[in-house]
Amino acid sequence: MTDHSNDMKPSRRAFLRGAAASGVAVAGTMAAAEGDPAILNKQPWNQMLGEGVDARAYGVPSPFEAHVGRKNVPWLTAESISSINFTPLHELDGIITPNGLCFERHHSGVAEVDPAEHRIMINGLVDRELVFTMQDLMRFPRENRVHFLECAANSGMEWRGAQLNGCQFTHGMIHNVMYTGVSLRLLLEEAGIKTEGKWLLAEGADAAGMTRSIPMEKALDDCLVAFKMNGEALRPEQGYPVRLVVPGWEGNMWVKWLRRLEVGDAPWHHREETSKYTDLLGDGQARRFTWEMDAKSVITNPSPQAPITHGKGRTVITGVAWSGRGTIPRVDVTIDGGINWVEARMSGPSLDKSMHRFYYEFDWDGSELLLQSRAHDSTGYVQPTKDQLRAVRGLNSIYHNNGIQTWYVNSDGVAENVEIS
Ligand code: MTE
Ligand code: CO
Repeated sequence: MTDHSNDMKPSRRAFLRGAAASGVAVAGTMAAAEGDPAILNKQPWNQMLGEGVDARAYGVPSPFEAHVGRKNVPWLTAESISSINFTPLHELDGIITPNGLCFERHHSGVAEVDPAEHRIMINGLVDRELVFTMQDLMRFPRENRVHFLECAANSGMEWRGAQLNGCQFTHGMIHNVMYTGVSLRLLLEEAGIKTEGKWLLAEGADAAGMTRSIPMEKALDDCLVAFKMNGEALRPEQGYPVRLVVPGWEGNMWVKWLRRLEVGDAPWHHREETSKYTDLLGDGQARRFTWEMDAKSVITNPSPQAPITHGKGRTVITGVAWSGRGTIPRVDVTIDGGINWVEARMSGPSLDKSMHRFYYEFDWDGSELLLQSRAHDSTGYVQPTKDQLRAVRGLNSIYHNNGIQTWYVNSDGVAENVEIS
């Protein structure tokens, strides 16, 4: 890393070199160690020809990145076909989740759908019942939009206290992707919605035949019937060849392998909106239809899977924030468990209902840290503490836990999931 000042004076440069040679970490600087074999020796890749362009029809990451991957929590569910794996947030930067690292959640495994045999039907309270092939769909005008998808159960295991050691597991039921698709509104207008048509049932073509009721205002607002993610065809695990995109709303509503849209005059009260995806409150009542994802953030580095390994001195804290109600104009960071808060630096596009990236650079003196981040969204909503959430929701909730996350970092840089009150 280089010093960012353009006018480095010789005297300062000499001081830096001297400090590095004597092994003293200088805040904000790193200088080469003398006799570093990585500089002095010729490396193998410097001495032999590499593979040609015919070696990789579809590229994969460097073998040195082989540790990067989605992971599951084995005790969470009985069967992998009705399970979940998590996005390795601590390995990523920027705002886009690479397709192969997007967390997966399915109720009956990954359906392998032949696009030539796939149809999308619109029926119910419409003027004309319609069936589209994938080719029909591609003849409508397309839109490109970046949105996060967060499962309502993200952080659900943390309601009763710190549980899982890594932001991949506490916060990794989220991905942020650029979708290409057709406006759901256009397709519904093509069918013509009858005046009694106030709700939409979206149904998947997987063995689960997963269904969710969506209010018509949302269906006509910003939903997409999407067939591309980050420029390429949807991956099978994300619903190839077509999925519903329901911006800002809980992931369960984003029906994958979308095959049917039924217009009705009332919600259907199916499994995923009664026995699941409802929120049991402290007083024993259950909230229903809690669709919007509240503003949330997490520090991804350092974190339990990504400790500080460079010792004292210049340290980069980074993380992500999102809101189902708009953008994230501001994230605050604390390194002392909330005694002092500083405004983090946002970097990258600030898009509606998308992930945002923040950074906070500081000089670590090697003392213990209690790291937290707190998101503010464009409606003025501020991310609550876990205790504030529990005061309203009790301890029996699973879904919609957007409380502030704390990482304890010891003087060796090792990080752990903790809670402070
Ligand atoms: N759609 C179908 N057809 N079947 C499913 O099992 N799972 C839902 C939703 N859509 C599901 C589905 C749930 S609970 C979530 S959180 C998201 O898809 C996960 O999307 P992803 O696998 O792309 O991460
Ligand atoms: Co889900």
